[in-house]
Amino acid sequence: MTDPNNAEANPLREGLPRTRVPDPCAVVLFGATGDLTHRKLMPALYNLARDGHLPAECAIVGYGRRDWSDDAFRSEMETSLKSAKVPDFDVVWPQFAPRLAFSGGNFDEEAAYAKLKTKLEQIDSTHGTRGNRLYYLAVAPEYFATIIEHLGKAGLINSPFSEGPWTRVVIEKPFGHDLKSARVLSRDVSRVLDESQVYRIDHYLGKETVQNILALRFGNSMFEPVWNRRHVESVQITVAEEVGMAGGRGAYYDTSGALRDMVQNHMMQLLCLVAMEPPVDLSADAVRNEKVKVLQALPQWNDDDVIKNVVRGQYSAGSIQGKEVPGYHSEKGIPPESQTGTYVALRLTLNTWRWAGVPFYLRTGKRLPKRATEIAIQFKLPPTALFEADTEAAGGANMLILRIQPNEGASLAFQAKIPGSRRRLQEVRMDFRYGTAFAQPPPEAYERLLLDVMLGDPTLFTRTDEVDSAWRFITTILDAWDRGKAPPVPYPAGTWGPAEADTLIQNDGDTWRRL
Ligand code: BG6
Repeated sequence: MTDPNNAEANPLREGLPRTRVPDPCAVVLFGATGDLTHRKLMPALYNLARDGHLPAECAIVGYGRRDWSDDAFRSEMETSLKSAKVPDFDVVWPQFAPRLAFSGGNFDEEAAYAKLKTKLEQIDSTHGTRGNRLYYLAVAPEYFATIIEHLGKAGLINSPFSEGPWTRVVIEKPFGHDLKSARVLSRDVSRVLDESQVYRIDHYLGKETVQNILALRFGNSMFEPVWNRRHVESVQITVAEEVGMAGGRGAYYDTSGALRDMVQNHMMQLLCLVAMEPPVDLSADAVRNEKVKVLQALPQWNDDDVIKNVVRGQYSAGSIQGKEVPGYHSEKGIPPESQTGTYVALRLTLNTWRWAGVPFYLRTGKRLPKRATEIAIQFKLPPTALFEADTEAAGGANMLILRIQPNEGASLAFQAKIPGSRRRLQEVRMDFRYGTAFAQPPPEAYERLLLDVMLGDPTLFTRTDEVDSAWRFITTILDAWDRGKAPPVPYPAGTWGPAEADTLIQNDGDTWRRL
C-alpha cells in the first residue's frame, strides 16, 4: 500500500498538511455483522482511510457469527458504505477493499479464536500490521467479558509491560447495568487487560462541540473567572431527541431507559466537562483526574431526595411536527406494564467550593419536539437594576449557550440598550457557528475516537474510576425506583416532558429553556 501522507501517491491529500498517522495495526471488529459496524464503524474507518489518517499497513478484520468469506464481508461493507453515501467511493473503495477480511465464529468458541489468531498472523505478513491489534467490541454487553477472556486465553493480548506490539480493546456502552455489575465487569476485564489497554467509549466525547467545552473554558481567559458560584445562577443541560424506538431498539431500550442510556454516560460526561477544575495539562490522566472529582462530588441521595429531585417520564401517543406517533407501550418489544422511563429530569448540586449551591438541571428524553443538545450557563443578575429590563428576557442576566448539536456553535446572550430616549434593555446575542467559522464540517465522533485508539491516546475515553463514580450516583436513583418510588409519569409525544419536570425547576424560581 502507499504512504497515505504522500500527496503524489494519494491524490486526495494533495495540498493538505501532514497529519499524525498511527502505527501499522489490525483492527478487529467484534460484531462485524451488526448495526454499529454498518452504520458507524465502517464509514468511520473508510473516512479515516480516505483522509489519509490510516497507516498504509492497516487491515480490518470482521469477526461475527456468520460463515462469511473475505469477499462476502467486502461486498456487505460495500453495500453499507454506499448506503452511508461516503464520499469519493469510486476512488477510495478499490484501495480500501483489499484491507478487509473476515473471520467467523461464536464469541465463546475457543477454536474460532485460534482461527482468528492464524488469520491475524497471515495478515501481519501480507499487510505488514506488525502484531499491533485493536479489538473493538461492538457486541451486546453480556459478551464483553467472554470475548476478553477468550482473547487472553488464545494468546491474542500482549502485555503492555513487554517490549513488542500493542493491544488495545475498545468497549462499547453500556459498561455495566448498575454499580455492582459495572464492578464485576471491571474485575473481569482487569484479569486480562491493564487499564492502559482499555478504551471505554462514550461517543459524546468524540463530538467536536463537546471537546470545545474545554477549549472555550481553558483556551480563553474571560470565561474562567466567572465560571463559579459567585457569578453563575444555574446550569441547564438538555439532550432532547425526537426519535422513539427506531430500528427495533425497543427490547434493548426497555432494559435500560433514559437514565442508563443517556444520563449515566453522555450527560455525566457533559456535566464533568462543564464543572471540572482546570487540568494541569491536557494529558489523558490530568483531564480524567479532574473529571472524576466532579463525579465524586455528586450528591448522596436517599429515597426522599430522589423523589424531590428526579422526574421520570414515559411518552404516550402524540404528534411530532404534525405526524402521529404511538406511545411507548405500543412500540415493538415493549411489555404493556413497562415502567421504563423515556424521559428524566434531575436537579442536583455539586459539593465543591466552585459550585456549592448552584443548581444543575439535567433533562433528556425521547419523542420530544426536536433533536437538540445544549448546555446553558445562566449568569446572575447585576447587583443593582439601573435600566428598565425587557420583561420577556431574563431581566438583565447573561447566558452562555453551548450548542452541542445541531447548529453546532455557541451564543452569548447579553443586554443592549434599545435605541431611543428611554433606558430600556433588550437581550441580544453574539453568535459563533461551526459551519461558518471553519471551512470543514466537524468529523464524525467515531472517526476521531477510532483514530485516538490507534494513536494510543485515551483522553476521550472513560476511566474505570469515572464509570464507577457515575454508577454510584445513578444506582441510588435506580434503587429508589426499584422500591416503587417516583413511578414514571406520562407525557404526550411531541411535548417537552411531564409537567412534574416543570415544577421541579419552578420550585427554584426557574424555568426550562425553550429550545
Ligand atoms: C446512544 C443512545 O448512546 O446515543 C441512543 O443509546 C441515543 O438512545 C444516542 O439516541 C444519541 O446519540 P446522538 O449522537 O445522536 O446524540
